[in-house]
Amino acid sequence: MDSRFWIKAWNDGRTNFHQEDYHDKLIEFFPQLHPRNGQRVLVPLCGKSKDLLWLHGLNLHVHGVELHDQAVESFFSENELSPVKTTQEEEFIDYTHENIVISCGNFFKLNKNDTYDFIYDRASLVALPSAMRGSYAQIIKQSLKKGGKCLLIVYEYDQSKLDGPPFSIDANEILELYEDQCAITLVESKKPTKEGSRLSSLDNLKQKIYVLEKTHE
Ligand SMILES: C[S@@+](CC[C@H](N)C(=O)[O-])C[C@H]1O[C@@H](n2cnc3c(N)ncnc32)[C@H](O)[C@@H]1O
Repeated sequence: MDSRFWIKAWNDGRTNFHQEDYHDKLIEFFPQLHPRNGQRVLVPLCGKSKDLLWLHGLNLHVHGVELHDQAVESFFSENELSPVKTTQEEEFIDYTHENIVISCGNFFKLNKNDTYDFIYDRASLVALPSAMRGSYAQIIKQSLKKGGKCLLIVYEYDQSKLDGPPFSIDANEILELYEDQCAITLVESKKPTKEGSRLSSLDNLKQKIYVLEKTHE
């Protein structure tokens, strides 16, 4: 799933992953991470997710990163916001409205010196094939402050029954990707109540919610 796959998906309107409502598990679990006014949250591979607005409503500084300019522009226009556009280090164009910034560009080229109190990963790790997940997790770990937390939502299902994305990511892989720097807590494992049409045909689908806390550098 390289950049071309996602650019084509947006160009062809194949964006079933997008939810018109705030994600129920964000609303349920993010407050348990005890966010405080002015803290920073990174939303990797954010698409045009409404969840950015919900996080902004908690008085957080929200930083989304998204490849496709159509997704970024749609986020602002559909929510009737007028962002200011600036170019950042040639790799990214930043769209800023109050404390929401979406950097339009390749997540894998993100400035590695920026750190965050929180990361919200919904439909992001699972959007990537296994060969890309190690590098992705490195950036996630590097981007979290020590003591910072990541709310991570993944799916587990029989990968032989369906091609990703979204890919199935099991508990062993979460350990492999994150346990060197994070304490990992599984906070929920359930069949999701509403999912896109591709996943709804699966018998043993589970949606798993993890909290990763960065314990060491
Ligand atoms: C499955 S969608 C999920 C979007 C969002 N997290 C949501 O919940 O609606 C994955 C998104 O990642 C974006 N994407 C994929 N690869 C990327 C990359 N290397 N850098 C930035 N964005 C990327 C795609 O354009 C797509 O919008």
